[in-house]
Amino acid sequence: MSGASAGLLAALAALKAEAERTVRAATERDEVQRLRTEYLGRKAGRVTAILRDLPSLDLEARRTVGQAANETKAAIEALLEAAEAALAAPAAAAGADLTMPARPRFAGAIHPVTRVVDEICGIFRDLGFTRVTGPEAETERYNFTALNFPPGHPALDLHDTMYLGPGTLLRTHTSPVQVRTMEAYRPPIRVTIPGLCYRRDPWDASHAPVFAQIEGLVVDEGVSFVDLKAAIGYFARRFFAPDVKVRFRPSFFPFTEPSAEVDVQCRICGGKGCPVCKGTGWSEIMGAGMVDPAVFEACGVDPERYTGYAFGMGPGRIAMQRYGLSDIRMLYEADVRLHAQFVEGK
Ligand code: PHE
Repeated sequence: MSGASAGLLAALAALKAEAERTVRAATERDEVQRLRTEYLGRKAGRVTAILRDLPSLDLEARRTVGQAANETKAAIEALLEAAEAALAAPAAAAGADLTMPARPRFAGAIHPVTRVVDEICGIFRDLGFTRVTGPEAETERYNFTALNFPPGHPALDLHDTMYLGPGTLLRTHTSPVQVRTMEAYRPPIRVTIPGLCYRRDPWDASHAPVFAQIEGLVVDEGVSFVDLKAAIGYFARRFFAPDVKVRFRPSFFPFTEPSAEVDVQCRICGGKGCPVCKGTGWSEIMGAGMVDPAVFEACGVDPERYTGYAFGMGPGRIAMQRYGLSDIRMLYEADVRLHAQFVEGK
């Protein structure tokens, strides 16, 4: 082999070694493009420059060097392609600073009243209750008459009803869905009925003109007040605390007889008395009682065969107790300082 061809082969090998370093070090696609021109450019490329002296070699040497040149070009081409492929992905996110911290995102939260409603219905579900709903726009018959409110009964004033028109109104409680349920299903019935109710109460720390209730209704043979007390006691121990104190006070509702109001010991002051329980140490969580036979009759249920109990609780009040809120209006104001505390998975 002549000295000239040995020198050209060495130059090709050195060029390949250099390209391996420079192409691998490239961090931008522009740089790879520039290196392609530098090494492989047809007119001014460095492989071309090395081959400039080729015609002066003999045939044998031209063949050897020509083959080596092709191999060198192919090797550099492969390096350039690999570099381009490696740089393609980040370039797709052009302009993104990959070291920038992710922007915090407000995820939204389940409203405290909705959380309480779901939890309460879940506890009663474990006792065999099905969750059902009914309309917010009602008739006088479902809201009052079928529930044994006599016409002109003071309770109609007491509820301070929002009328929609003659005989139609926004329901003042979830009890009309008791009637709808008894009309639609035969006993045995075990349902919880969450929903919104409306009364012409002015806004203050403990009243709102629209509020949630959860109605409960059980109708079966042989249901007694003992079953009502057992179910409410079970609920209170699971929802509040295993040692929570519960008391039943005699009360009156047209659709239950006997009737009771149920209190739990105030969770905020532990029974000592505070503004939330108005100094009594107790917090009223529901009205309840045995379904009045007159209601069964209005719904087509045989009062000789069946008995039942019903309750109606205020999940808004219960949410205030649970989360230590002193003003019911906090539940309506969508203040992120409250709701951010309920974002899951923070
Ligand atoms: N509907 C009653 C109210 O809104 C609550 C209640 C429901 C009482 C069921 C007894 C039984 O005040």
